[in-house]
Amino acid sequence: MADDLPRPTEEPLIGDGVTSGIVRVGDTVRRPVRPFTATIQAYLAHLRSAGFHDAPAPLGVDDQGREVLSYVPGDVPRDPLPADTAGEEVLVALARLIRRLHDAAQGWEPPPDAVWGGTPAAPAAAPSADGKSLIVGHRDYCPGNVVFRNGLPAALIDFDLAKPTTRVTDVANALYYWAPLTDPVDRPPAFAGLDIPARVAAFADAYGLTTPQRQALMPAAKAMVARFHTNMRAAAEIDPVFARFWAEGAKDRLPRAHTWIRDHATDVTARLLADV
Ligand SMILES: Nc1ncnc2c1ncn2[C@@H]1O[C@H](COP(=O)(O)OP(=O)(O)OP(=O)(O)O)[C@@H](O)[C@H]1O
Ligand SMILES: [Mg+2]
Repeated sequence: MADDLPRPTEEPLIGDGVTSGIVRVGDTVRRPVRPFTATIQAYLAHLRSAGFHDAPAPLGVDDQGREVLSYVPGDVPRDPLPADTAGEEVLVALARLIRRLHDAAQGWEPPPDAVWGGTPAAPAAAPSADGKSLIVGHRDYCPGNVVFRNGLPAALIDFDLAKPTTRVTDVANALYYWAPLTDPVDRPPAFAGLDIPARVAAFADAYGLTTPQRQALMPAAKAMVARFHTNMRAAAEIDPVFARFWAEGAKDRLPRAHTWIRDHATDVTARLLADV
């Protein structure tokens, strides 16, 4: 009888603590179904059909009503980023990975009934500064969502915040975490003394940002961090997980990042435009 068969082992996967109930079962991951799950599974299916395989494969829903995704092998770093992720080769590999994701996403029209994650207060992204149409980007390149293999970013997971955005704003999101575009007091120790303008330029070169995209990058980063602050404050009022993130430092870190970006935008943009 089927009931007598041993159930496969379920290994809890703990990420940034936003989503509870994530488990690994063999080569798959099971996650709770949310309102946006079907939209994201359609997006992940599109990415594969467009040749991008460095994201979980969408495998439908299991008999317990949970989302099923393929398990992506590799190592996922945690905050604070370890010293061996501070090298420029990590940024370059991440930039190339995101460029391939964006190129695969470019042709996808979300269904008219698409449902997106993230805070509802987030305004729709403005049409892109480079005149291109919006693409669905990942929008959450925090350390826990980047899978490393052989010391380099190799795949992306956790597309819960994916939605239509511009390439530039999505790149700004990656740079916020990985340049990083934060005040030095908030950087992981190994990142505190780095030459941020040079790192942003290395990412831009590896991605292949155009001149208009380079001009748009720092204003987009400033606006994005302002939205993080507004949205996190709103989320903290209704959700205990975000209330903890807010109290544990986001309430100070985000305004500090905003000030740092404002004060360094001219330098970074000059470096970005120096050798194009
Ligand atoms: N498809 C996958 N392949 C490999 N590992 C995964 C996969 N999905 C999740 N994980 C592991 O489980 C952790 C938590 O999963 P996930 O990032 O989806 O949720 P979360 O971090 O709680 O959500 P959020 O990023 O919204 O806070 C990841 O950091 C990763 O270590
Ligand atoms: Mg995550």
